[in-house]
Amino acid sequence: MIPKGQGVSLTGKRVVLGVTGSIAAYKAAGLVRAFLRDGATVEVVMTGSATRFVTPLTFEVLSGRPVATDLFEAHQEMKHLTVPEQADVICIAPATANFLAKMALGLGDDLLSTMILTAQCPVVCAPAMDGGMWTHPAVTAHVQTLRARGVVIVDPEEGPLASGRTGAGRLADEASILGAVGSAIFSRKDWSGHRFLISAGPTHEPIDPVRFISNRSSGKMGYALAEAARSRGAQVVLVSGPTALVPPSGVEMIAVESAEQMTNAIIARLAWSSVVIMAAAVADFRPKQAANQKLKKQAQCDTTLDLERTVDILSTVSALRDRQLLVGFAAETQNLIPHAMEKLKSKGLDLIVANDVTAPGAGFGSEQNAATLIDRHGTISELPLKSKRRLADEILDAAARLVPDAVHARATDLGSKMR
Ligand code: PMT
Repeated sequence: MIPKGQGVSLTGKRVVLGVTGSIAAYKAAGLVRAFLRDGATVEVVMTGSATRFVTPLTFEVLSGRPVATDLFEAHQEMKHLTVPEQADVICIAPATANFLAKMALGLGDDLLSTMILTAQCPVVCAPAMDGGMWTHPAVTAHVQTLRARGVVIVDPEEGPLASGRTGAGRLADEASILGAVGSAIFSRKDWSGHRFLISAGPTHEPIDPVRFISNRSSGKMGYALAEAARSRGAQVVLVSGPTALVPPSGVEMIAVESAEQMTNAIIARLAWSSVVIMAAAVADFRPKQAANQKLKKQAQCDTTLDLERTVDILSTVSALRDRQLLVGFAAETQNLIPHAMEKLKSKGLDLIVANDVTAPGAGFGSEQNAATLIDRHGTISELPLKSKRRLADEILDAAARLVPDAVHARATDLGSKMR
């Protein structure tokens, strides 16, 4: 979970606050004060459009330091190199759709975007935008690219926007941004030494060379888990069915299509792993016989597909496991808790993430999800609707509480085999 910034000392830390051209630029003034209150030094860098909303003088007075705005004026002091070099974190708040696009594409046409290209420190972006821009496919794709590259995105909130409309796009609250900055500086590596085997996405079960049986999984939940585990210090292998997503950087991806291929890939890497998370929506049935040629339409005749069960990967892993922590999902449309409890027990899991896939804004394909976690002791916790990335961190928090000494011992054994 990205913790809210409460009492995290930033004493001695140097925050570069990048302000881009959004009406929410005025809220960056509050952030300067909050960073100073927590002990940081703040250097504000503004884009040209940001200066149309708030004057540099406001930030100069608040931060007590000159505000850089122009690549060419700053060139003498090589600010595009020296400022990021000395920074502990760069926080872009608010980040416009335009600035996210520039970052994703690696453009450096002003001081702030050039600094991002030279930065070695963590980068946190808090987007803010109106008029449905946040859900535009281009913005979604750029955000995915940035996340995959390790940029921390503090999702905007839903609510009234400057235009008078309501929707997703309000700058996240101050505490969430401070929390993300604190985590980026003092990032938790609580899963370091562990090896995660994570499945994601749907499977395709061929009917003939052009048709298949599948489901609506986009892979977002599994990819978010892979990214969260990697950023918390774990080595991660992601076994992914067909998706349109970019795998997170630093994660080994094994691309599969069918349930059979996913089974084989998971079993092949099981001995390597210390934690297994099955977020994939594996098809439960497949055609008994896939036709070699495209099936032809037959005028007056209904066609029946003969189906057979696929292997239950989780149950197989549960039977074969050697101390691995096992986390499954339950995608339900009714009787969420009883059905999930039944799966937890029958599949021999340590933790199950039950999602009601009919809930508005959650489940298949959406950016957000809500879940009920049930652990092997029967403890139930509700996680209300939030971004899949935040939910992933909370699932990892719950999993961390369940790691018995045996799982730690396994991770240590695996580590010593590597040496
Ligand atoms: O991918 P997204 O668009 O982000 O959507 C996320 C999600 C809704 C797919 C995800 O949150 C989710 O619920 N994944 C599990 C979907 C599913 O197949 O649920 P299930 O209740 O049918 O299966 C229970 C568990 O058994 C799951 O962990 C599943 O991976 C596993 N399983 C299922 C069938 C099978 N043959 N082998 C399995 O291991």
